[in-house]
Amino acid sequence: MSVGVIIPAAGSGTRLGEPVPKAFVKLGDRTILEVCVAGVLDAGVADTVVVVVPADLVDDARRMVPEATVVAGGAHRSDSVRAGMDAVGVADVVLVHDAARPFTPPAVFGRVVDAVGAGHPAVVPGLPVADTLKEVVPGDTSGIEQVRATVDREPLRAIQTPQGFTRDALRAAHADDTGLATDDAGLAERVGIPVHVVSGDPLAFKITTPWDLRIARDIVAESAR
Ligand code: C5P
Repeated sequence: MSVGVIIPAAGSGTRLGEPVPKAFVKLGDRTILEVCVAGVLDAGVADTVVVVVPADLVDDARRMVPEATVVAGGAHRSDSVRAGMDAVGVADVVLVHDAARPFTPPAVFGRVVDAVGAGHPAVVPGLPVADTLKEVVPGDTSGIEQVRATVDREPLRAIQTPQGFTRDALRAAHADDTGLATDDAGLAERVGIPVHVVSGDPLAFKITTPWDLRIARDIVAESAR
């Protein structure tokens, strides 16, 4: 069973507040992208790795991660994933893995690949939700929002990457893209493909905010000690 991995890394990372796009922010000596690609290679599941970056950073990325094929991304995450699909070649299983989750342990890759190999067309890693979740009345701009309801967290999962698909399932999912989905499994659900969840890992957290970046830098500093 051949496995291709697409790493979307073409986001601007506005919420991080850094002067360079998120995947090019440094964690110690290496960029988030370099740490992520090294992690994917360490997992030992990938036959091919495709990295998708902003068009003006393709040459920089090629120098940074020579092990990967580097292509230019698009305006939305799903545009970037499709650019990666065109470059990934023939693979039985395609994993889509956010560059912004550079510490994802090898075992998570293994669980996702195994579940797709066992016959599930779309598989995502997920974790139970720890916080109490409340739905608020939308549209409030005052900064004080009114609660509409408390949501039952028991059946909810916070979804991570890598998300794994048979090649056909990923193609079918992306054939009907509205540009609004925040993950690939969401697109699969829309076209009726069953999506299954395997256990994720706290280390697969996504670097999104300055707080996440601080934690990521601490992890790298601690592992260098
Ligand atoms: O914006 P968000 O944090 O959800 O992005 C998740 C991943 O998708 C990041 O690794 C980001 O670089 C990537 N992305 C992309 N192309 C875009 C937007 C996001 O490759 N247009």
